[in-house]
Amino acid sequence: MKIPVSKPLISNKATKYVNEALSEKSLSGLFGKFIPKFEEEFADYCGTKHSITCSSGTAALHLPLAASGLKKGDEVLVSTLTNMATFFAVIYTGAKPVPVDIDTDTLNISFEDLKRKVTKRTKAILLVHLFGHPADLNPILEFARSNNLDVIEDCAEAHGAEYHGKKVGGFGKAGCFSLFANKIITAGEGGVITTNDDDLNLTIRNLKSLAFGEKDKFQHKDIGYNYRFSNIQAAVACEQLENISHLVKKRIEIAEFYNKEFESLSDFISLPIQRPHSKNVYWMYHMVLKPNEKLFNKRNEICKELSKKGIETRQGFVPFNLQRIFIDKKMTKPNDCPNANAISGSSFYIPTGPDISEKELKYVASNFLEIIDKLIN
Ligand SMILES: Cc1ncc(COP(=O)(O)O)c(C=O)c1O
Repeated sequence: MKIPVSKPLISNKATKYVNEALSEKSLSGLFGKFIPKFEEEFADYCGTKHSITCSSGTAALHLPLAASGLKKGDEVLVSTLTNMATFFAVIYTGAKPVPVDIDTDTLNISFEDLKRKVTKRTKAILLVHLFGHPADLNPILEFARSNNLDVIEDCAEAHGAEYHGKKVGGFGKAGCFSLFANKIITAGEGGVITTNDDDLNLTIRNLKSLAFGEKDKFQHKDIGYNYRFSNIQAAVACEQLENISHLVKKRIEIAEFYNKEFESLSDFISLPIQRPHSKNVYWMYHMVLKPNEKLFNKRNEICKELSKKGIETRQGFVPFNLQRIFIDKKMTKPNDCPNANAISGSSFYIPTGPDISEKELKYVASNFLEIIDKLIN
């Protein structure tokens, strides 16, 4: 058996939509009906006024940051534990990303550390809803309002996640989603920005497509980017969005199954949690080995044993403050974020994709329990 960490679940409707786009010869990001259809429906789903497609989750992060005119000398507070795309997007603008430590239960940005890291140069907070669990937004939004800071949500892993009953993506200035193949909904590659801000919507649409002039097309209004999404990708994304309730439900059911199976390991392993007033969509079933002598430093061994059984895993993210390239460039120091350091090296995730069968799920769980059992007994 070979079980990948995530394989998309795509219905025949996607083939139908893609064929429609092909037969209409509407391939690009400028023509065709699927981009406007997807943008309208995704904004509806997230409860925001606008949604704008683009070429990747990284581009989705870069565009609102670029639109806010960030420059050298400005600082952006960023949750340290994330895919480094979150940090790269800030670096592209010339501003300095400042890593903020995490809360050890949700692994999301720590409000206490955020308050410590703010300076006169801070312009924005870029928080991540990591592994599908929403960050604790209310105190951060209030703090941002009173300090005149923008809040941008990295929702790459959290389509459909909710905070106090409201979907993520509409709490700050912009929400940034990825449509990469392993994400909750996918187009293979792609990204979406959600916003309630009419001006930002227009600026982002302008920047994502080379900032062409309005009257005189080739008198460009700005230094633009080509971050366009294609009509073919949007055809796939439309099918995914029609099925999003099922795709989210599937990931939640997978997590609930693993939670039950691994209940007895709670002295040894931190399983994913769901805080009150939050809806976790469990992008990936991510675990952290607790620091006890039996399992300490055994992460790689566990992943290797699972791999021998055909079960794919991924090691957890390496925080910004432990990335050698940024330490060498003196952009951070290893001890900037002790909570993130304490879990880095002992975290990993197991198959969580919506295409996994019941038989495969049971196979993953029983092999995992067996491997852990051998190590702790
Ligand atoms: C938290 C987070 N932010 C940003 C990204 C970047 O998205 P993309 O790969 O679509 O550029 C990803 C995932 O890949 C991610 O997990």
